[in-house]
Amino acid sequence: MSPTPVNVTVTGAAGQIGYALLFRIASGQLLGPDVPVRLRLLEIPQGVKAAEGTAMELDDCAFPLLAGIDIFDNPREGFDGANIGLLVGARPRTKGMERADLLEANGGIFKPQGEAINAGAADDIRVLVVGNPANTNALIAASHAPDVPSSRFSAMTRLDHNRALTQVAKRAGVSVDEVRRLTIWGNHSATQYPDIFHAKVAGSPTTSLTADEPWLVDEFIPVVATRGAAIIEARGASSAASAANAAIDHVHDWVNGTREGDWTSAGIVSDGSYGVPEGLVSSFPVVSHGGDWEIVQGLEIGEFSRARIDASVAELVEERDAVRALGLV
Ligand code: NAD
Ligand code: LMR
Repeated sequence: MSPTPVNVTVTGAAGQIGYALLFRIASGQLLGPDVPVRLRLLEIPQGVKAAEGTAMELDDCAFPLLAGIDIFDNPREGFDGANIGLLVGARPRTKGMERADLLEANGGIFKPQGEAINAGAADDIRVLVVGNPANTNALIAASHAPDVPSSRFSAMTRLDHNRALTQVAKRAGVSVDEVRRLTIWGNHSATQYPDIFHAKVAGSPTTSLTADEPWLVDEFIPVVATRGAAIIEARGASSAASAANAAIDHVHDWVNGTREGDWTSAGIVSDGSYGVPEGLVSSFPVVSHGGDWEIVQGLEIGEFSRARIDASVAELVEERDAVRALGLV
């Protein structure tokens, strides 16, 4: 008998990331080739028709693992029984919109979604927030789900992690598979800090890369940290397939475990490690064992890294204070 399908709720299902994500989930890439899934697509009313079209296409793929598709425009229904929640739909910044307006508009999305998760999601719910500002949106959702352990909420910095892997691999002339133990610290924003001081390239330390300060400071860090903006500039739209790919990687590793001898990066609720204030959703080096993220402990943080981690964390504190002032956390 085939196992019970896992309920995966995807918000913003009719958007560009949704279109790149849903087919991969249904094909088994999110949870594994033996795990049937039931998709629960959550959209705003204006997005429902397009979501129906995507559902027709999903049907037309005849994916053996796809046990069903339901479409909702109500978060309470969309998250009912959800085992995995991929919170992709968010309010983009539009012309003339101030940062506080953006945070408030997203509070209007992530507060009710947190409440809906609290009310009806399955006991093993795991949430990945992709929609920007992802860290603070995750903080808002977690704040409104007091009965769900805060460790079940995470924000996506895996795309930044993957971007950094490729930049290092290209510089070192190795395959991405040979680059390990990179870390993205802080916020999924231009203040993020991609840290290669503990990384290994083909099993060796990255001494020659870290010693190359012009490359590190003027190329590697800004290229990774501003890659999202560069893609918007080039494509006229924000990254979609690579963002969907990172979401798949994040949840796959969370549920199935990270590989031995390596770690990845995820925005998770801080326990105070590395001087990041408790309760902030910040990116850390993490491993997953048995379905729980754990922060990699004991890394020595030099002055160069400390200043950059602190700067990104300061931005997260500002965002938290802004949503606190709005009564959202
Ligand atoms: P998009 O505009 O193509 O799609 C967003 C979809 O969300 C739309 O279909 C919209 O109708 C829907 N939506 C809006 N409010 C909703 C709500 N309350 N409930 C359910 N659905 C809702 O955007 P996209 O390109 O798919 O990007 C989605 C988000 O992901 C954006 O915020 C983007 O900035 C962010 N993003 C994050 C990362 C990351 O690495 N964390 C990377 C790329 C993009
Ligand atoms: C990205 O990193 O590609 C996105 O977060 C950019 C954006 O603003 O949507």
